[in-house]
Amino acid sequence: MRDSYSLAVITGSVRADRIGPRVTRWFLRHLDRHTDAVVDHLDLAELDLPGDLAGGGDAERFTKRVDQADGFVVVTPEYNHGYPGPLKTAIDTPYEQWRAKPLGFVSYGGASGGLRAVEQLRTVFAELHVPTMRTNVLIPNVHDAFDDDGELRDPGPVEAALAEMVRQLNWWAHTLAAARADRPYDC
Ligand SMILES: Cc1cc2nc3c(=O)[nH]c(=O)nc-3n(C[C@H](O)[C@H](O)[C@H](O)COP(=O)(O)O)c2cc1C
Repeated sequence: MRDSYSLAVITGSVRADRIGPRVTRWFLRHLDRHTDAVVDHLDLAELDLPGDLAGGGDAERFTKRVDQADGFVVVTPEYNHGYPGPLKTAIDTPYEQWRAKPLGFVSYGGASGGLRAVEQLRTVFAELHVPTMRTNVLIPNVHDAFDDDGELRDPGPVEAALAEMVRQLNWWAHTLAAARADRPYDC
C-alpha cells in the first residue's frame, strides 16, 4: 500500500460574492489532521471549462488533474434544491479519469446544509463509476456558521462528520489505488 495519495478538492461555486472559498479554506485547514493525502485544490471559478464540452479553455488541464487524483472532495452549495450548473459542466468534462476513485462531499446552504444537492450529485457520480462516501459534511445556515477567524461557531457535529468522512475516503482511496495498479478498471 502506498504511503500517501493524491486528493483533489473541488470548489463548486463560482459566484462573485460566493462563500465557497471560506468553506473550502475551513475544510482544508481541518483536513490535514485526518489524512496523509497530498491536496490539489481545483477552484472552478479559476478555470475556464467550456459548456459545450468540446474541449479548449482549461478542459485538458482540468481533466489531467482529475486523472492524477486518487480521490476527490466536492465542496458544493445548494441552489434551488440542486447543485451549481458550472459544477455539472466540470463533472462532464473528464470521463474515464473519474472512474474507480472515491469522492466525499462538503455541502452548505440554508437549513438543509446542501443535502439535496449532495443526493443529486450521488446519482451523477454513480454513472461515472465513482463511489461516494456515506458520511456528508453538511454546514447548515452557512452565512451564520463561521466566526471572524473562519472557524465554525458550533464545530462539534460538523468536525466529527469531517473526521468520519475523511477516514472513509482514506480507506477507499488507498484501497482503490492499489486495486487499479493491480488490475485496470475496465468495467
Ligand atoms: C440561486 C440561489 C438558490 C438558492 N437555493 C437554495 C436552496 O435551494 N437551498 C438552500 O439551502 N440554500 C439555497 N441558496 C442559498 C445558498 O446555499 C447560499 O447563498 C450559499 O451561500 C451559496 O453558496 P455560494 O455563496 O458559495 O455561491 C440559494 C442561493 C442562490 C444564489
